[in-house]
Amino acid sequence: MPQGVTYIKIQKAAEEIGHGTVACQLNVSDPSSCDRFYNLLAEKFTSVDVLVNNAGIIGNKPATAFDMGQMQAVLNVNLLGAMYVTKALWPLLEKSKDARIINISSGMGSLQEVQSGGYTAYRLSKWSLNGYTMLLAADAPAHIKVNCICPGWVQTDMGGPNAPRTVQQGADTAVWLASEKNIPTGKFFRDRKEINW
Ligand SMILES: NC(=O)c1ccc[n+]([C@@H]2O[C@H](COP(=O)([O-])OP(=O)(O)OC[C@H]3O[C@@H](n4cnc5c(N)ncnc54)[C@H](OP(=O)(O)O)[C@@H]3O)[C@@H](O)[C@H]2O)c1
Repeated sequence: MPQGVTYIKIQKAAEEIGHGTVACQLNVSDPSSCDRFYNLLAEKFTSVDVLVNNAGIIGNKPATAFDMGQMQAVLNVNLLGAMYVTKALWPLLEKSKDARIINISSGMGSLQEVQSGGYTAYRLSKWSLNGYTMLLAADAPAHIKVNCICPGWVQTDMGGPNAPRTVQQGADTAVWLASEKNIPTGKFFRDRKEINW
C-alpha cells in the first residue's frame, strides 16, 4: 500500500510518543489486511489490552437516493471494518487480563436522536455498530469490556473546522474507557456519561 499523508503523520506521532510505539498501515475493510496486522502484532506482543475501532467514512445521501455503492462502502468501513479488526485481534485480546474494545460511534447512531433525515448509510452503519457493540459485549468473556462512544462534533477532516470540539475533547471518553480501572460493558457513552441507544 502506498504511504499516504495519514501514515506519515502516524509515523511521526509514533516517533514522538516513543516507548516502542509502532505505526502500521491497515485497511480495515480488507480482511487480509486485518490478518496481516494481527501477524505484525503477534510477532511483537503477547496480548492486546486496548482496541479502538475509530476508522470511519461519511455517507450523506437520503434513503430515497438508494445509493447502494455508498451504502456498501460505508458499511464496509464503519461496521464490517470494526468487525474484521476485532475478529483478527481476538486471540490477542483474549490473552489480555483486562481488555477494552472501544467502538467510535456517533450520536447519529442513536435511535433516540433522529431529528432529521439524510446520512442514511452513515446512520445505519453507526446504528449497526452500536448493535454489534451490545451483542459482542453480551458474548465476550468478562475480562473483555466492549463499549461505544460518541465523540461529539469534532474538528477533524470529517467534522470540519467549525466543529466546537478539539480532537483532545473528542478523544477524552475513549481515553477514559481505555484507562479507567473499573468500567461497565455493553454501553454507549458521550462525555464519560452513558447515553441512550
Ligand atoms: N468528526 C466528528 O465530528 C465525528 C462525530 C461523530 C463521530 N465521529 C466518528 O469518529 C471517527 C473518526 O472520525 P474523524 O472525525 O477523525 O474522521 P476523519 O477525519 O475523516 O478521519 C477518518 C479516519 O478513518 C480512516 N479510515 C477511513 N477508511 C479507512 C479504512 N478502510 N481503513 C483504515 N482507516 C480508514 C482515515 O484514514 P485515511 O486518512 O488514511 O483514509 C482517517 O484516519 C469515525 O468513526 C467517525 O464516524 C466523528
